[in-house]
Amino acid sequence: MRIGFFSTKPYDKTSFMNANAALAKPQRHELIFFEAALTPQTCGLAEQVDAVCVFVNDQIDAHLLRCLAGRGVKVVALRCAGFNQVDLAAAHAMGIVVVRVPAYSPYAVAEHAVALMLTLNRHTHRAYNRVREGNFALNGLLGFDLYGKTMGIIGTGRIGTVLARIMTGFGCTVLACDQVENAECRQLGVRYVEPTALFQQSDIISLHCPLTPATRHLINQHCIALMKPGVMLINTGRGALIDTSAVIAALKTGQIGALGLDVYEQEELLFFEDHSNEIIQDDALERLLTFPNVLITSHQGFFTREALAAIAETTLSNLSQIEQHAACPNRL
Ligand code: NAI
Repeated sequence: MRIGFFSTKPYDKTSFMNANAALAKPQRHELIFFEAALTPQTCGLAEQVDAVCVFVNDQIDAHLLRCLAGRGVKVVALRCAGFNQVDLAAAHAMGIVVVRVPAYSPYAVAEHAVALMLTLNRHTHRAYNRVREGNFALNGLLGFDLYGKTMGIIGTGRIGTVLARIMTGFGCTVLACDQVENAECRQLGVRYVEPTALFQQSDIISLHCPLTPATRHLINQHCIALMKPGVMLINTGRGALIDTSAVIAALKTGQIGALGLDVYEQEELLFFEDHSNEIIQDDALERLLTFPNVLITSHQGFFTREALAAIAETTLSNLSQIEQHAACPNRL
């Protein structure tokens, strides 16, 4: 298949070229890499490709799909798990196949959530700078033992389950909310509760459910009011799971005591790119960055060697299956 890659970074190129080279010669695909995001303006680059391969912030709406269909593109391959950015109904109506990578490394994202928690709790991001400047004072760096604390996990799918395993290892009590109770979580001693109980009892809350119309602004002013004062909130799921303005208000009062974000509601305008020489126009993000108890990373939860290799292998295998008209379990 001739595949046009959009929003390509050097690391994508490396992992996909390695995965393609590992295939037997007749099964290899033709890979064409574009740095540009896929938009109606850049869609022309997709001339004569059978498939486009896109990432989390490429917005695949009906208009874009029409542009792709008009150019003969038959497949949209998402090199990510989430698919909230794709108008699936429109794709189906136009006969465009959409595939994704549902699982590549749940460890990568769960471990990143833990990295955010540990950094926020023990203030290592601040300690790093202090010590380098000759400031060896401990004021302001006080943390708490994770042991014995209550962790609330919203969404115990692949990533949430790995996080539950890690947090039970720390000696935390783990509460969870999910429509589907996970057997491994149950075995670990995770207690499934109603959202209200999770909000009321958790010292740390971490979000691992997909973004859907039902989960948009799942974290809003009403549920924040139920939370323990000083709660730590971690979001490595999708930005819009959180109502950013409600969270800013709660950070100002201290109701939220620490916030770790790997995703942000308006991230597609900023994340994955270097904007260090520009004036950032996003006032909510800039306000968040002023809090000493907020840590934001730029959607890097997935970013491990193992995950990149798995994403490339699964994406190419998805496309081979579609090309050969074989069953593709990752077809949406
Ligand atoms: P998964 O599909 O294995 O698990 C999601 C779980 O959420 C399911 O058990 C589902 O029943 C549950 N769920 C759905 N609606 C819910 C609700 N209203 N309340 C509670 N639970 C609910 O997905 P996986 O692989 O664990 O990924 C979770 C999310 O993490 C993805 O949807 C994606 O948005 C995000 N993600 C973030 C990455 C990053 O780099 N930061 C990388 C990969 C995924």
